[in-house]
Amino acid sequence: MTRVQLERLTIRGLNLDAGGNSFAQDVAEGLTSTPKTLPPKYFYDGLGSRLFEAICRLPEYYLTRSEAEILTTNSDEIAASVEGPVRLIEFGSGNSEKTRCLIEAFLRRQKQLHYVPVDISWSSLERSSRELLRDYPGLTVTAYAMEYYAALARLSEGEARPAARNVALFLGSNIGNFDEEESRAFLRGVRTMLDDGGALLLGADLKKSTGVLLPAYDDALGVTAAFNLNILGRINRELGGEFNLKTFEHRAAYNDRLSRIEMRLMSRIRQVVPIRALSVDIAFEEGETIHTENSYKFDLDQLAGIAKNSGFSLTRSWFDESNWFSFNFLAARRLD
Ligand code: AVJ
Repeated sequence: MTRVQLERLTIRGLNLDAGGNSFAQDVAEGLTSTPKTLPPKYFYDGLGSRLFEAICRLPEYYLTRSEAEILTTNSDEIAASVEGPVRLIEFGSGNSEKTRCLIEAFLRRQKQLHYVPVDISWSSLERSSRELLRDYPGLTVTAYAMEYYAALARLSEGEARPAARNVALFLGSNIGNFDEEESRAFLRGVRTMLDDGGALLLGADLKKSTGVLLPAYDDALGVTAAFNLNILGRINRELGGEFNLKTFEHRAAYNDRLSRIEMRLMSRIRQVVPIRALSVDIAFEEGETIHTENSYKFDLDQLAGIAKNSGFSLTRSWFDESNWFSFNFLAARRLD
């Protein structure tokens, strides 16, 4: 079984959950700035990726279910919007669960499909790629276990003329982690990789009442709290940190002006935390926070603007019944 699978599977990257040097540097930088920050990409070590999968099953975390609803209802129509044959490149693929709908829809239109998942978590990629190959004989997988820009660079320098049209996927409102400038930079990078005629399929969470938004990031079971706190656990495991997780508290708030959820970790006490591998001691006041994540919420005008500014046109959007989530077709505009 593994043999056949291996013939259709290539994984590029380090056999690590993207730790290494940059993690140490970014932690040192983030925890010595005022206010303290940590980049959200470091949530996703082996444990963090599993905790995120658990978040996706929470009753409060509507994003995954809303997007899955859109995909199950419209996958054939979505797939028919691109002239094939298609090669699917997904950024932040995670467990590729929702992508299955689209993979199946494309496999109804073409016998073979090349799927290129990009994810910072090697363990998620490896697990999901094997499951996909087992389930879909027509699939070939080339997985990139690295950050988006590293994968973009490799993909852009790839084959001169690929046999199939590139279609990029950015699902789950992963774009919500970027501020305006970061999304423009990233989407421009994606646009450059695509040929004219290519497209980006973008899942983006919509603005809505805080009564719905807040519980999605502060669930009753405490899974999001565990997900947030795990970044301190990871610093302990990988960098010899001495964080006592019980002295920190998960905080989620909606910033109305910037229309984003902000997640923080708050120190319940005044304390000093050594991080041995960095040779630093980090001092916390009682109540002081580390800003760990932003999750922007969008409206269609903003999405159209982001598309326009990065070389795309927003040509079509699909919604779930509650109109909580959007799935958007961004056609690559001619670059001249
Ligand atoms: C994976 C970035 C889309 O912002 O909703 C979930 C991450 N953080 N719960 C999001 C997350 C807290 C998620 N994204």
